[in-house]
Amino acid sequence: METAKLTGDVKDIALADKGKRRIEWANQHMPVLQLIRKRFIKEQPLKGMRVSACLHVTSETANLAITLRDGGADVVLCASNPLSTQDEVAASLLKDYNIPTYAIKGEDNATYYAHITAALDHAPHMTMDDGADLVTQLLTKRTELIKNVVGGTEETTTGVIRLRAMAKDGTLKFPVIAVNDALTKHFFDNRYGTGQSTLDGVIRATNLLLAGLRVVVAGYGWCGRGVAMRAKGHGADVIVTEINPTKAIEAVMDGFRVMPMSEAAKIGDVFITVTGNKSVIAHDHFEKMKDGAVVSNSGHFNVEIDIPSLEKLSSGKREVRPFVDEYIMKDGRKLYLLGDGRLINLTAAEGHPASVMDMSFANQALSAEYLVKNSKELKAQVYPVPEHLDQQIAKLKLESMGFQIDKLTPEQEHYLASWSEGT
Ligand SMILES: NC(=O)c1ccc[n+]([C@@H]2O[C@H](COP(=O)([O-])OP(=O)(O)OC[C@H]3O[C@@H](n4cnc5c(N)ncnc54)[C@H](O)[C@@H]3O)[C@@H](O)[C@H]2O)c1
Repeated sequence: METAKLTGDVKDIALADKGKRRIEWANQHMPVLQLIRKRFIKEQPLKGMRVSACLHVTSETANLAITLRDGGADVVLCASNPLSTQDEVAASLLKDYNIPTYAIKGEDNATYYAHITAALDHAPHMTMDDGADLVTQLLTKRTELIKNVVGGTEETTTGVIRLRAMAKDGTLKFPVIAVNDALTKHFFDNRYGTGQSTLDGVIRATNLLLAGLRVVVAGYGWCGRGVAMRAKGHGADVIVTEINPTKAIEAVMDGFRVMPMSEAAKIGDVFITVTGNKSVIAHDHFEKMKDGAVVSNSGHFNVEIDIPSLEKLSSGKREVRPFVDEYIMKDGRKLYLLGDGRLINLTAAEGHPASVMDMSFANQALSAEYLVKNSKELKAQVYPVPEHLDQQIAKLKLESMGFQIDKLTPEQEHYLASWSEGT
């Protein structure tokens, strides 16, 4: 099939040199992906595959795109969020690596969707998503492309939830691998990656001293655990809000105060939502917040914060620092929203560090290879990353970190496999 000539759309191609150095720096911290890339160069498992990837355009993603390209794929990349792009990385991908890239930090919604459309013009055999926007566009607006697709992968919790809903009502038309659900992904990326980089984003945006502040973390899932743990490490008094009783007990036993948002809203200094849900901070909460409260989100979509209500309650707003908007409430209080409520770790900081994305993107690369080999046996459903690939990534990562572990002795193997032992 003839595909359109793709030219890419980036902010400024002159930024490429800076981007290349960032990409190379990230590569040094991605040893597992490096090993996969070496093998891909030899074996060409993705030969002839057109891949459209809609991911946060960061230096780590660049290394994934290069790995796929070196494995024989014809890759096109677009942003998975209007504010998460590293413009210099996008420029370098286009100029130095010849990978058509459609991503500009701060692009408006129309441009965001135009970029997804451009990536779909590639008529992909494989999709790679972070949040399922690309697949949603393909399945609803570009149905003529479905016949080419052998499968896709999905990077994040919110995307997996959307795809499972599509599979349930029959909308999904090809298999998708839930990379997020691999243990070597969410145990580390969501917890330690989001934990560190979210705090980094809040601090870079505000330069607040977190020690002594009340930090309210909404959601105690994989990301929330990491954010709460790191906020505690900064000396903050951390409050957790939850809707799941088990997660709430876990937060209590981890040493955090737990209360409903209606209570936390009155006392919090800094709010961070990581639930994957909507309107977690809403009209009534803004009404109760203290003067000077800072509100941010690190979940996938900015609907976690009901920004239209904040707009309605305020008489005006102004930018006081990059990524910090001051809302002047009608009663005189000032509330601060960070990064338009977009994932603050990617908006105001650099997203997850490379060493954690090493495992996430090793899962992406191996899942792409798995799809090529096995797509004929797979149905239009959401599949986990096969356990042996997850284990293989863990083993390689551990080795690269210089740690060794014990092996089961034959006696132990026998003991664990037998139900009759134990007396
Ligand atoms: N910032 C990033 O770089 C990054 C990285 C990974 C995941 N994510 C996104 O972060 C979000 C959370 O991901 P996760 O892996 O932690 O998911 P998770 O399912 O492990 O955790 C979400 C938690 O939020 C809780 N929750 C739901 N609604 C709530 C509400 N109204 N109030 C309080 N708690 C509520 C749930 O009970 C659950 O414990 C998703 O949108 C995911 O896509 C962001």
